[in-house]
Amino acid sequence: MTKILKVKIYSLAFGGRGVGKIDGKVCFVKGALPDEEVTFRVTKDTSRYTEGEVLEVKVPSSDRQKPVCRYYSICGGCDLQHISYEKELFHKNEQVNQLIRRISGVKDFTADVIVPSKDCYHYRSSVTLHRKGGGYGYYEKGKHSIIPIDECPIAEKSINMELGKIRGEKGKNDITLKTDFQEKVWSSNVMGERFFIDKYDDTELFMSPKAFSQANRDTVVRVIKILKEWIGSNEEAASLFDLYCGTGLFSFSLKDSFCSVSGIDSNRIAINCAKNTVKRGNIRNVKFYKGDAEKLFFDVFQRNKTSRNILFVDPPRMGLAKSFLEKAARVNDIDRIYYLSCDPASFARDVKVLTNCRSWSLNKVLPFDMFPRTAHIEVLAEFTPPKTNS
Ligand SMILES: C[S@@+](CC[C@H](N)C(=O)[O-])C[C@H]1O[C@@H](n2cnc3c(N)ncnc32)[C@H](O)[C@@H]1O
Repeated sequence: MTKILKVKIYSLAFGGRGVGKIDGKVCFVKGALPDEEVTFRVTKDTSRYTEGEVLEVKVPSSDRQKPVCRYYSICGGCDLQHISYEKELFHKNEQVNQLIRRISGVKDFTADVIVPSKDCYHYRSSVTLHRKGGGYGYYEKGKHSIIPIDECPIAEKSINMELGKIRGEKGKNDITLKTDFQEKVWSSNVMGERFFIDKYDDTELFMSPKAFSQANRDTVVRVIKILKEWIGSNEEAASLFDLYCGTGLFSFSLKDSFCSVSGIDSNRIAINCAKNTVKRGNIRNVKFYKGDAEKLFFDVFQRNKTSRNILFVDPPRMGLAKSFLEKAARVNDIDRIYYLSCDPASFARDVKVLTNCRSWSLNKVLPFDMFPRTAHIEVLAEFTPPKTNS
């Protein structure tokens, strides 16, 4: 039988659900915002917490907005179109602080103020359409079924022009659409690797719709700028190790500050893109290795280390393996670690391992709103080694 409860919401959890308490038990309510009183349908009830979905907003928040997208209530892409952008940023900042304090055990840590996205709609330069049954579309919220879509307000406008056409396309695999710096659309639904030239600020590189690319061009350019500032310009005698390098965006953007750069990624097409960029620009100080980053790193490090060594990691959402972090933390010759993460929860878990191991310190964390209107948050962090080593 459907159980319906009433609750007052006091915060917004990572993932976008409103948080309230009934008789001391925490409730996570999909679609509810802080300061609201809502009734909700219970979808899960355990001894520790209750989960549910809003039925009626009895007292709405002044931050509540009408979602822009007509698929918002069913599409699995966005979670925060019903809140003002200003408050979305505020809550994302809070979520990063809470995750770090709760999971990493680094007490009283406060991240810097989140960097907003230049645009909160029409910013996505890469979307993937999934196939099931009749045609292509996005995943339905919380399910593996597909909803056909004709438009997506967070995708760049030129991608939107293609979406309706893709719906009926034939094929077995997912289709990724990417734009280049001139907003030309490139589809993965072709034979072969399909390279094109892309540009971020003044860095030109080969890209493919079949390799990873950052979703928000303006924001990633800002990430690169901040990372350059954090690393500083005195690294000409230093080596950079770019783990999970993809097509080499960070390797190429930072190469002028280092005597040697080594990038590692497991995706064959991404590494082919990176090697083509090296060839095209006759770049002498950047090398790429195809393989598992955590397995190859220690060997690549021994071959390319110099008097000063910087490790930069940008792993997928699941973060890094504990065994890798414990081994890397004990390498005496690593002078700084920079970590770019698209999941502050797995990041916070990794902070715990690194700060427990040979007492690396979490020096600073800067969140970026790489994915406005969705629950996702990007964070950039700097770790410094124990004093005796620095
Ligand atoms: C978040 S992306 C970062 C890419 C790159 N830093 C960029 O900015 O374009 C993560 C990358 O990790 C790669 N990857 C996933 N698992 C890997 C593994 N076990 N070893 C090496 N690379 C891996 C993917 O191919 C992808 O390029």
